[in-house]
Amino acid sequence: MSSLIHLLENNRVWSESVRSQMPDFFTKLSQQQAPEYLWIGCSDSRVPANEIVGLLPGELFVHRNVANVVVHSDLNCLSVIQFAVEVLQVKHIIVCGHYGCGGVKFALEDIEVGLADNWLRHVQDVQQKHARELAQIDDQNVKIDRLCELNAIEQALHVGETTIVQNAWKHGQELTVHSWVYGLKDGLAHDLNVRGSSYEEIFEQYQKSLGSR
Ligand code: CO
Repeated sequence: MSSLIHLLENNRVWSESVRSQMPDFFTKLSQQQAPEYLWIGCSDSRVPANEIVGLLPGELFVHRNVANVVVHSDLNCLSVIQFAVEVLQVKHIIVCGHYGCGGVKFALEDIEVGLADNWLRHVQDVQQKHARELAQIDDQNVKIDRLCELNAIEQALHVGETTIVQNAWKHGQELTVHSWVYGLKDGLAHDLNVRGSSYEEIFEQYQKSLGSR
């Protein structure tokens, strides 16, 4: 059985390099984390949350799943949101989709992958909701990328619909929900301009963003 020696070796080099620059980095970090941001992104190996936004360990709370989906009954995602909002008191939740997302492509093209088809059914719901807009796009790659944007926007709205975020807003907690999309080809993330510090605000921006199309 081969062990992953090369990865453990990489880890040692990384740990040493961090400690050489900041000798008490890990000691301090082991005592507490106080991230201001929750990242909800795709599991895709090309979308590494911390690196994209230049944040160190301790600065970004992260949840990732295939196609960055926020389902109202997904205990895993809901628990992450609850812990982030109520325990860590993050100030921002970023739902970040990415162009060229395989999950979104499979959903759009109705390609069977197995169990994950059931998960990607949620992306197909987004597709159906925006079928009219998507039907106007001829280029298949442009269509996939637009569904990647729409999916990030819809999932950000779902975050704002959770009881956790609704309660936080009701109690006056400072919390903003953002929708972003990341480009694999240039490494750049973009704000999709559907964000809000209240449900009314994010819903208004949601309607405005779709109305402008
Ligand atoms: Co993806």
